[in-house]
Amino acid sequence: MQQFTKIQEMKDYLRPMQSAGQKIGLVPTMGYLHEGHLSLIRRAVQESDIAVVSIFVNPIQFGPSEDLAKYPHNLAKDLELIDKTGAAVVFTPDAVEMYGDNHLTFVHVEKITDILCGPFRPGHFQGVATVVNKLFNIVRPDKAYFGQKDGQQAMVIQKMVRDLNMDVTIITCPTVREADGLAMSSRNTYLNVAERSQAPVLYQVLTAAKDMIQGSITDGVLIKKQIKTMISSKPLANIEYISLVDASSFREISQVSGPVMIALAVKFGATRLIDNIIVEG
Ligand code: PAJ
Repeated sequence: MQQFTKIQEMKDYLRPMQSAGQKIGLVPTMGYLHEGHLSLIRRAVQESDIAVVSIFVNPIQFGPSEDLAKYPHNLAKDLELIDKTGAAVVFTPDAVEMYGDNHLTFVHVEKITDILCGPFRPGHFQGVATVVNKLFNIVRPDKAYFGQKDGQQAMVIQKMVRDLNMDVTIITCPTVREADGLAMSSRNTYLNVAERSQAPVLYQVLTAAKDMIQGSITDGVLIKKQIKTMISSKPLANIEYISLVDASSFREISQVSGPVMIALAVKFGATRLIDNIIVEG
């Protein structure tokens, strides 16, 4: 497995292989890898000639009060895990390499970044779209892999790629969960024992909402009310938002009449967890 920290070296390594027709799969990550990340990497390994994993904790997607400084990391362990998947290349630039000291260009996807997590994390999706665009320019992947766990992020990237005519296919992979349903996340390590024991309520309410929709309840207000009641029964949970959005337009809906994404963000102490499911309404 090859590791690169410099943009030019990364490009110089990949370009001859691309000219020879080799297909590149990219999995962008911020490291501290778990099974969720690994499922994306394994799929990239399966579907491409060269699988590239990037590890970069992107400063511009963190707000001033967010957890950039304490974001967990363990590069040695990550490299070991990636090596076992068969991925050929790891790209681990630092912030100076990626942004220098005079970075003035950003990618902003409108509207679909104003809902769900958007209002709670101003600038976050602009930071994500910008870094992913940069990674696409550096690696020039044929396919790039994202998790449904961050459903809004996957939508934003998909929209950026379509709107800017980028030659990359975005593959969205299913959410990998712990045995009790909690979506795997690097942030789960912040939860204390009591918070961790209450956190599976997120998946429980999503499943309950799915059952309601499949049982022909279409009233979005009623579904959200039910979710709110269930989450509020957990004393350590603080709801940030509960949303029902049309799975393709990403517009908030009050009546379910087709595929819908039920998405939520809930804080346990200082730890903010997100989860979602798509239900064919
Ligand atoms: P990170 O949180 O490290 O996640 C990297 C990728 O793994 C994302 O596409 C995310 O959706 C996916 N992922 C995380 N948990 C998952 C799970 N439980 N099941 C399936 N996939 C999961 O998301 C980011 O990093 C960053 O915003 C990034 C895209 C790298 C840009 O900086």
